[in-house]
Amino acid sequence: MKIWIVGSQGMLGSVLMKHCMERGIKVVGTSRLDADVCDEDQLEKVAITESPTHIVNCAAYTDVDGAEAKSEAAFAVNCWGAANVAAVARKVKARLIHVSTDYVFDGKARKPYSEEDKCAPVNVYGKSKWEGEQKVLEAVPEACILRTSWLFGLKGKNFISSLWGRFQQVEELQVVSDQCGKPTYCSDLARAVINLLDAEGIVHFANEGGSSRYEIALKLLEVMKQRGLRPKCKKISPVGSAQFPTAALRPTYSMLDTDKYFSLTSTRPRLWFEAADEFINEI
Ligand SMILES: NC(=O)c1ccc[n+]([C@@H]2O[C@H](COP(=O)([O-])OP(=O)(O)OC[C@H]3O[C@@H](n4cnc5c(N)ncnc54)[C@H](OP(=O)(O)O)[C@@H]3O)[C@@H](O)[C@H]2O)c1
Repeated sequence: MKIWIVGSQGMLGSVLMKHCMERGIKVVGTSRLDADVCDEDQLEKVAITESPTHIVNCAAYTDVDGAEAKSEAAFAVNCWGAANVAAVARKVKARLIHVSTDYVFDGKARKPYSEEDKCAPVNVYGKSKWEGEQKVLEAVPEACILRTSWLFGLKGKNFISSLWGRFQQVEELQVVSDQCGKPTYCSDLARAVINLLDAEGIVHFANEGGSSRYEIALKLLEVMKQRGLRPKCKKISPVGSAQFPTAALRPTYSMLDTDKYFSLTSTRPRLWFEAADEFINEI
C-alpha cells in the first residue's frame, strides 16, 4: 500500500501525512507546487512516478467567503481540480478518497444529514464542492466521498482556534447562536481516512456532540478552565448571525449523521470537546 496525499500541506493533509508516517504506512505528499490539481498532466506525471495504491484528495479552495467573489477560482480547484484527480486515479487504478463538506447541504433539516439526503448548497464554496463530488463519482464510481465539518487543528484558521485566541484577549465575546454543526478534530478525521481507505460511496465523518457556535464556545471555555487555564474571557453572549454579516451565507444547521461510518468501521467518533482537550494539550 502507498498513499498519495494531494494537498498535503493544508490543515487536514499535514495531519494525515503525520498519521500515515507514524503508522509506518508508505506515503507521499504533494503541495500545489509539486502537483497542482488544475494541471492534469502534472498530476499524471506524479501518479506514474509514485504509483500509489490510494489517493486522498485534501486539496481544496477553502475560503468560504472569498469564493463568493472568486467563483471561478473555487470551481477550478473544488470541481474541475477534483475531476482531474479522479481522472488520474482512474488511469493508474488507485483507490480514491475525496474529502468534501457539510456545506453541500442547505441547513434546513432539523436532524443530522445522512449520506442520502438531498444536497442544495447555499454558497459558492458549497456549490463548487457539490459539483466536484459529482465529477469524482462520474469518473470513479467506486470512489469514497468523505464529507466532514468544521475542522479544527493546529494549522490554519478555524473556529476552535479563533475562539481559543479570543478567550485569551477579550473579557466578553459575542458568538452566533443560529449556526449549528459538529466541530471535527483533524487528527480524528485522519484516523477516519485511514479506516476508510477501501470504502466506497459517500460517508459522513464528524466528531459527536455538536451544537450551535455559541454553545460550542461555552463548552470550550469550560474545557479550558477544567484544564486549569485562566482565560481572560468571562462572558459569552449569543447573537444572531445577522449581527456578523459575511459575504457567504452559511447553512444554519449542518450536523452530519455518522451512523454509516459506524456501520463500516464499528467505531463511533468521539465527542468534539474530548478531542478539543487533546488539541489544547497539543497547543
Ligand atoms: N476547514 C474546514 O472547516 C472544512 C470543513 C469541511 C470540509 N473541509 C474539507 O476538508 C478538506 C481539507 O480542508 P483543509 O481545512 O485542510 O483545507 P486547507 O487547510 O485550506 O488546505 C487545502 C490545501 O489545498 C491546497 N490547494 C489549494 N489549491 C490547490 C491546487 N490548485 N492544487 C493543489 N493543492 C491546492 C492548499 O494549498 P495552498 O495553501 O498553497 O493554497 C492547501 O494546502 C477540503 O476538501 C475541504 O473542503 C474542510
